[in-house]
Amino acid sequence: MIPRMELYIDTANIDEIREAADLGVLDGVTTNPSLIAREGVDFHSQMAEICEIVSGPVSAEVVSIDHDGMISEADALLKIASNIVIKLPCTVDGLKACKTLSDRGVKVNMTLCFQPLQAMMVAKAGAFLVSPFLGRIDDIGGDGMELIQQIRTIYDNYGYTTKILSASIRHPLHLVQCALVGSDVATVPFKVISQMMKHPLTDSGLAAFLADWNK
Ligand code: G3P
Repeated sequence: MIPRMELYIDTANIDEIREAADLGVLDGVTTNPSLIAREGVDFHSQMAEICEIVSGPVSAEVVSIDHDGMISEADALLKIASNIVIKLPCTVDGLKACKTLSDRGVKVNMTLCFQPLQAMMVAKAGAFLVSPFLGRIDDIGGDGMELIQQIRTIYDNYGYTTKILSASIRHPLHLVQCALVGSDVATVPFKVISQMMKHPLTDSGLAAFLADWNK
């Protein structure tokens, strides 16, 4: 089967998730502690509500920085819904926790990935997803897309099955580039999802068609 690029929304806002889900092409959701804090809500109940709206993978991130703390937080999060994916940072403890959870069959999303060796290590540990942050690399004058391309090549060279989830996407061109280099998934803020079906020539062309029709 030819793989398709999956589209996730990167938000913890219920209205945005509902509106994106209504498009009929939303495959999953990613959240992070900053996005949850922005909503000012209880973490677990917000995740439960999100999982009721979207049946695909919903990433919930731990805030512990040690292996044992990550595992106990993950165990509590996994009770929320069957589509919860545990999001862990690309640190040494995160890698160990990824291995522990993946060996148990838990889906893990390894976040804050900024270099290709992090992506290779988490793939070896069995991660379901790896999240390279391309916008934040661009922000400091780097080339975020180069990282996505490097990870794609490494994973293809060795047949790693971890999916590349391009994150920190800032504009539609990032999405086009992700699709061109073969990112498996892109997680996108609501603002960018709203731009995906927009073009001024579509609007003006449609207006002209309708004006001619009505003459
Ligand atoms: O959720 C992770 C990532 O997408 C964050 O994006 O815009 O805060 O760099 P940003």
